[in-house]
Order: sequence, then structure tokens, then C-alpha cells
Amino acid sequence: MSIHILLVEDEVDQRKIIQNILRSDNYQVTAVETAEQALEIIKEHPVDLIISDWQLPGMNGEMLLKEIIQLTPACGFILITAHSDASHAINLIRAGADDYLPKPFDKQALLFTVKKLIYTKSLENENQQLKQQSKHRSQLIDMIGRSTAMNRLFARIEKAAPTNATLLISGESGTGKELAARAIHQLSNRSNHIFLPVNCAAIPESLAEAELFGAEKGSFTGANKTRFGKFEAADNGTIFLDEIGELPLVLQSKLLRFLQEGTIIRVGSNQEIKLDVRVVAATNRNLLEEVEAGNFREDLYYRLNVIPVTIPPLRQRQEDVALLISHFLSYFCEQHHCDKKKLSGSALKMLLSYPWPGNVRQLRNSLERLVLLSFGEIITAEDIEELELTRKNNQRAFLLPEQGLQWEEHEKECLLQALSHCNNNRTQAAKLLGLGYKAFLYRLEKYKI
Ligand SMILES: Nc1ncnc2c1ncn2[C@@H]1O[C@H](COP(=O)(O)OP(=O)(O)OP(=O)(O)O)[C@@H](O)[C@H]1O
Ligand SMILES: [Mg+2]
Repeated sequence: MSIHILLVEDEVDQRKIIQNILRSDNYQVTAVETAEQALEIIKEHPVDLIISDWQLPGMNGEMLLKEIIQLTPACGFILITAHSDASHAINLIRAGADDYLPKPFDKQALLFTVKKLIYTKSLENENQQLKQQSKHRSQLIDMIGRSTAMNRLFARIEKAAPTNATLLISGESGTGKELAARAIHQLSNRSNHIFLPVNCAAIPESLAEAELFGAEKGSFTGANKTRFGKFEAADNGTIFLDEIGELPLVLQSKLLRFLQEGTIIRVGSNQEIKLDVRVVAATNRNLLEEVEAGNFREDLYYRLNVIPVTIPPLRQRQEDVALLISHFLSYFCEQHHCDKKKLSGSALKMLLSYPWPGNVRQLRNSLERLVLLSFGEIITAEDIEELELTRKNNQRAFLLPEQGLQWEEHEKECLLQALSHCNNNRTQAAKLLGLGYKAFLYRLEKYKI
């Protein structure tokens, strides 16, 4: 794309010469006689650079500069001045000119000044873009993670955020669903408006409709003034419907209506109110199972799940554990104004091998406690033991290996091991597996043990 230069020069010969020099170097040039004409042009289409004489009939070059700074601050501006005294030039730069050319100047000086300015402008532009990108990143950076799964998640969030699409975020408790919802809001063009979290499980069923959609004055006892609901409060912003699986069925249909029509009706009214609210929902249940059990509307499920976002549990992204540990360790040392603590080798090993059933929330809380409760600079294995991260209490009794398993072989192995554990005492072996005696015998038979 060629650079577009606007030249403002009242002397005809001078104008022609400069124009020709610039064109010979492949710039696109529009030449005018006065500052007033230049302003007309600028208002119609943007230019990259203005070269203006200082002395012009009517509005002079310096006054034009002031207007341009208001109109298009990113546009480059070079002033041609008859004075070669330095103080005048300094004043022009102070007034906001990018550069100046004292008369008389030759072709080389003109082209060099123009090139230099275009180069600095392009650097400024690039810098601006980088800043924008890192602003995006730093908002996502609140979400720590470098596992493949998290990178995929970040990419999906970045892609989905600027759209208005409804999102359903699923994941176990503590995996960061709310954090992801906030990131989506921050990266959307709604970020200057409200992000309103609503916990669907915390609203009593009888009040839920008024709470979400508002209520007209007198619509029920105690409603002595018109009440705005959460949806109205979130107009232009994002509403985060947490634990959406808990939303009563009656309200599910009202939510569906909003998602389809973009309108709500307050309790006790029949007037539709049009709203612009983006819905992001979250669940730690398997909503499809809820659909099958008849607890969740299937049509609503599909309407919500336009863009599915799934946050994997921490035990499935081992690479992130170390990163999160080191992040929260520095974070809480800083928060609690203590010198940076370190984990001993064995302490770190213990934390790394723990399956974190409470996910990031549990890891975060554990590190805060470690920072607060440990003595000295090194966090030791004993400190970790104090946390009582016992597997018995917290871990699931059994973790299905990621690659799955052969059920029948597994079952047979359990039977054999139970028997050998109990010296072939069948009654005890059955108990050990939590099976009734008959059920146990049936299985022995099945596997011909
Ligand atoms: N990837 C992450 N990086 C940094 N902090 C995280 C990350 N994921 C979660 N957290 C932190 O862990 C805590 C729990 O996160 P959040 O509340 O978003 O989880 P959740 O999935 O909504 O949990 P629940 O289902 O219990 O509501 C928060 O303090 C959050 O800041
Ligand atoms: Mg949550």
C-alpha cells in the first residue's frame, strides 16, 4: 500500500517541485494551497503524513497542526519553515510537529525527513499493536497454564470472546470456570460494561423469577416498588449464570425465551423488555445427564452450548501444577509481605504427586496456608503434612487411568488380589470388595476362579 502524503504549499512553483520529488519516490501526493483546503481533505479521507508550509494565507501551518492533532493524532506532520533559527523549530516540535524542514532544502533532505518519519510512525504503530495484544494476554494471564489442554482453552476463549455467542463452561469445582468467564468478558467489546455473576443454586426457587427478570410493583406481597432483575442490571454487559444446572425448570423456559428473542418480561407485567445481555453459563455437573434425567431442558442445553468450553481437572494437566505452585508461592509471599519462600525438594515432590481433587482452588488455598504457617524460608515436607492433604479424605478411591482399562481383566484382578489378601477366606474377601457373599461367588464363577 502506498503512503499518502498531503502537501500544503501556497507557492505554485514550490508546490510543483515538492510534489514531483515525492511522486518520483512513489508516494501518493495530494497537493493543496491552503490549510482550510487541507482540513476539508482530511475530514474526507485519512492521510499518513502532512507536509505543510508554515507561512500560508489565512490559517498558518502552526494553526493547521493544532487542528490536525485534534482530528487525527496519529498522522505525521512536517512543517516547512522559512526561519532557520533553532528556537522557532523547537517551538514547532513542542507544538506537536514530528519534524521540520528549513528553507531552502534539497531533494535529499526532503526525502530523508519523510522516510525517517514514516519509519518512526510504523514503529509507533507496531508498538501500539503489541501493547494491545499484551493487554489481551495479560488479562488472560490471570489464568495460569501451559499444558496443551490450557493452550487450547486460551485459544478458544480468545476466539469466542469478541463474539456475542452464548457459552457454556463446564469443569469440576475449582477448575477456574468463573475466571474463564471473566476473561471472556474482559476480552469482549463489553469489557467496559458490567460482568454480573449470578449463582443459580443460591436463589430460592420462589424468588428466582423476580430476582432474574424483575417484578412490577404490587405483583406479589412485599413488592411495593418495581424491581429490576439481574438481566436488566446486566444490560450491555455479560451475565454469568453459575451452576446453571440448578436453575428451576420454569425459569429454564424463560431463559430460553431470552436467548431466542432477546426479551424478558417482569413478573406481574406483560410488556416485553428488549435487552442486550451476553449469557455465559457454567456447570460442574454433566448437563447432558441432567437432560436425560428430565431435570434440564434439552432445547436450552443446545441453545446454551453454542460454544462449549471445558476446563480439564488439574490431575489431567500435570504440567500446570508446577507452574501454579510457583505462581501462588510468589503471589502469597508478596501478598503477606514475607521474603520469597522456597519449597524443599521433598515438599515439592509431595505437592506434584498429589492429585488435587479440589483443583486450582485447593492448590491455591494450600499454598496460602503454607506461606502463612511455615517457619523460615524453606517450606518442608513436614509443613506439607500439616496441610493434611490425605488421600483418604480427599482423593477419589480410584482414578481411572487416562488410557482407560479393560474392565473384565480389572475385575478379575481385584477378585484375585482380595482372595490372596485374605488367605483365600471368601467371606472376608467379599467384604473387602464391598460385595455380598452371593455376588462375590457369582463373580468367582464368572471368571472361573
Ligand atoms: N488457571 C488458573 N490460574 C490461576 N488461578 C486460577 C486458575 N484457575 C483457577 N484459579 C483460581 O482458583 C480459584 C477457583 O477458581 P474459580 O472460582 O474460577 O473456579 P470454579 O470452576 O468457578 O469453581 P466452582 O465450580 O467451585 O465454582 C480462584 O481463586 C481462581 O482465581
Ligand atoms: Mg465458580
